[in-house]
Amino acid sequence: MQNTTTITIQRSVLRHDLRELLALENLVFENDAFPVQEFLHLYHIGSDTFLVARTEHQLIGYISAYAENDTGYIASIAVHPDHRGNGIGRTLLRVAMRILERHPTLTAIQLHVRQSNKPAIHLYQKLGYVTIGIETNYYADGEAALMMTHTIQSKTSPA
Ligand SMILES: CC(C)(COP(=O)(O)OP(=O)(O)OC[C@H]1O[C@@H](n2cnc3c(N)ncnc32)[C@H](O)[C@@H]1OP(=O)(O)O)[C@@H](O)C(=O)NCCC(=O)NCCS
Repeated sequence: MQNTTTITIQRSVLRHDLRELLALENLVFENDAFPVQEFLHLYHIGSDTFLVARTEHQLIGYISAYAENDTGYIASIAVHPDHRGNGIGRTLLRVAMRILERHPTLTAIQLHVRQSNKPAIHLYQKLGYVTIGIETNYYADGEAALMMTHTIQSKTSPA
């Protein structure tokens, strides 16, 4: 029999998702994991771009993003190790970017990523992000972060 898993991407209802989100966060990021207060803050400033990926039984991924003035930020993205390489990270990022791009004044979307994090860097490059700088000593263990940006195409059509 074929084993098919239906995955849904939806806006998070944080009070329902929080316990599973924290478990995924700790599993994936270990010492870099966001504490509960950070999740509450990110949800407060970007609830429309706080998305989760779910199987029927389990939360297996999330993305948190928000817009501030003319810039969007990807705060975090994670996919459960058992479900990687199936396009879930790309879908989460694409959907969050599409929602951010509805902000009429948005000109760019930015993010930071560990210099050594090849899977994430490849994902961002695939979706049009380019490296614009390096911040040394960005993470608690001293590793540098790449600053990457995605420029939003102008929404006004030429006269
Ligand atoms: C980064 C992450 C979210 C990608 O999620 P994913 O669902 O496995 O990614 P996808 O299957 O959607 O892959 C999309 C693209 O990402 C890149 N990618 C994903 N896994 C990769 C790997 N192991 N090595 C190299 N590139 C990889 C590829 O470019 C891939 O496109 P392709 O399949 O056409 O080559 C996931 O690896 C993860 O949760 N990592 C730990 C948390 C993390 O590092 N978050 C980012 C913090 S800035």
